[in-house]
Amino acid sequence: MSVRARRLQEMKQAGEPIVCVTAYDFPSARLADEAGIPVILVGDSLGNAVLGHDSTLPVTLGDMAHHTRAVVRGARNALVIADMPFMTYQTSADDAMRNAGRLLQEGGAQAVKLEGGRTIAPTVRRLTESGVPVMGHVGLLPQSVHQTGGYRVQGRTAEQARALLDDALALQEAGAFAVVIESVPGDVAAEATRRLAVPTIGIGAGAGCDGQIQVLHDLLGLSARTPRHAKRYADLSGVILGALRAYRDDVIERRFPGAEHTPEAEAGAVAEAFGGDGA
Ligand code: KIV
Repeated sequence: MSVRARRLQEMKQAGEPIVCVTAYDFPSARLADEAGIPVILVGDSLGNAVLGHDSTLPVTLGDMAHHTRAVVRGARNALVIADMPFMTYQTSADDAMRNAGRLLQEGGAQAVKLEGGRTIAPTVRRLTESGVPVMGHVGLLPQSVHQTGGYRVQGRTAEQARALLDDALALQEAGAFAVVIESVPGDVAAEATRRLAVPTIGIGAGAGCDGQIQVLHDLLGLSARTPRHAKRYADLSGVILGALRAYRDDVIERRFPGAEHTPEAEAGAVAEAFGGDGA
């Protein structure tokens, strides 16, 4: 049975950890789904992980709709959430409505994710009251990296920790069904998790959150560097590099393709077509 946003609330209440991962294309979504991961985020980390940008800022709504469509085709059971890219919701609630609509209608996502706390809560309320399920995102906000001066841990001081909780509470109040907490001290995230009725999904925020999310490419060893909060479960860069070098060598040494990879004409067809003995 496919997972819906409401199910995450039941999982929090039951104390069941919520596993989430990013995916950006059909094969990775199919595998995440087959692995039994209930929530897939088409993150705007697409920009860094797949499109070769050095931040998420250049990612467009068109990029997100295109990749979300592919992920939705691969995810039979998982809940698919699409990130709203930079400047597609900060400008006005009307823009947010129109652009979230595209991610749901054209992309086929079941929910959207927005970065920010109290300042975007009115926009979140407008979306949720119109039937768009929204996941919030507080702590380190990659779309605000130029303002915050880098990818830094947030919520270290008492004032920042309190502000983070107020942001998360405002999102909950506005109808968000879950809140991502990124790069925040573990005890701060755990306290926010206790105080929120909706599930928290951590990344670099310790084990006290209701769930965890990771960028697929970090888990699989496909990123140029593995961030501290991630664990490499595989070295796919090494596997892919080895396979591509073996292929290159086989072609150069004429070991590939072999007879088993090559189609055959009907008996006598070559001689009849070109004359000679067809050898
Ligand atoms: O874009 C993304 O992948 C994200 C997750 C890291 C939470 O926002």
